[in-house]
Amino acid sequence: MTDGWQPKQYARFRVEREEPFHDLLKLLQPVKGGQVVDLGCGTGSLTKVLHEKLEASETVGIDQSEAMLSQSHAGGGVRFEKANITAFSAKGLDVVFSNAALQWLPDHETLFWRLAGMLGDGGQLAVQMPANHNHPSHTIAHTLARTPKYAEPLGGYVRENPVQEVEWYTKLLAQIGFEEQNVSQRVYLHNLTGPLEVVEWVKGSLLTDYRNRLGQEDYEKFLADYQERILTELPDEHPYLYAFNRILLWGRLTTTRKITG
Ligand SMILES: C[S@@+](CC[C@H](N)C(=O)[O-])C[C@H]1O[C@@H](n2cnc3c(N)ncnc32)[C@H](O)[C@@H]1O
Repeated sequence: MTDGWQPKQYARFRVEREEPFHDLLKLLQPVKGGQVVDLGCGTGSLTKVLHEKLEASETVGIDQSEAMLSQSHAGGGVRFEKANITAFSAKGLDVVFSNAALQWLPDHETLFWRLAGMLGDGGQLAVQMPANHNHPSHTIAHTLARTPKYAEPLGGYVRENPVQEVEWYTKLLAQIGFEEQNVSQRVYLHNLTGPLEVVEWVKGSLLTDYRNRLGQEDYEKFLADYQERILTELPDEHPYLYAFNRILLWGRLTTTRKITG
């Protein structure tokens, strides 16, 4: 498999993609001199903003994409590690942060217990994840992946959505021992020039998964078919208002309970 991430394509909608990051950041309380991890940090530009805003002493950005990390710049208490989130472990952190990355990982119950276990007493967890799986921009890709034309080159792979309903996260955080929490779902409205810009949007995110698994030739065919379906299924509106659901969650552990799960 190749590394499907393309920093330039991802950055095409930088302003729109950064808005939820800033909303998530507002939920956190500073941890002067503290230890922070940014899981799925991408190019690391927002990791620096996180580090400074939280007044942390050390922030580690974790990402498995060589292409994304090649744009990162360590320094001033921020460093980066190439690693899979599933293999990363830590103890006693003040903040575990993740913006637009955990939607790529399965089994959120096990995952969130594990992330909470990386926090020290009173530690904060802050996560933002897209929850737009019912929009045609996402369903079209998965429907295409199931067609005989792509099922074979994909080896039968179809991306499963691991993101749960917002209520599910509120209950889970309470069970884990987050004494305080702030969990919400928000719709971000993106003013795109037309439906074709939706294709550009997902090329920088969702479709990276299929790009990863298909050879260049098959990916180009997949993209052409995807685009054709987008133009059929989405209204021919200019501008096209792309409504994008996201879950933002924040929790703070009690200062006494130890996480064992
Ligand atoms: C949509 S980008 C978000 C990047 C950054 N957090 C931001 O807000 O700009 C998702 C990032 O998560 C990373 N990622 C996805 N799954 C991962 C995993 N299992 N381990 C490490 N990184 C992962 C990807 O490589 C990608 O850089």
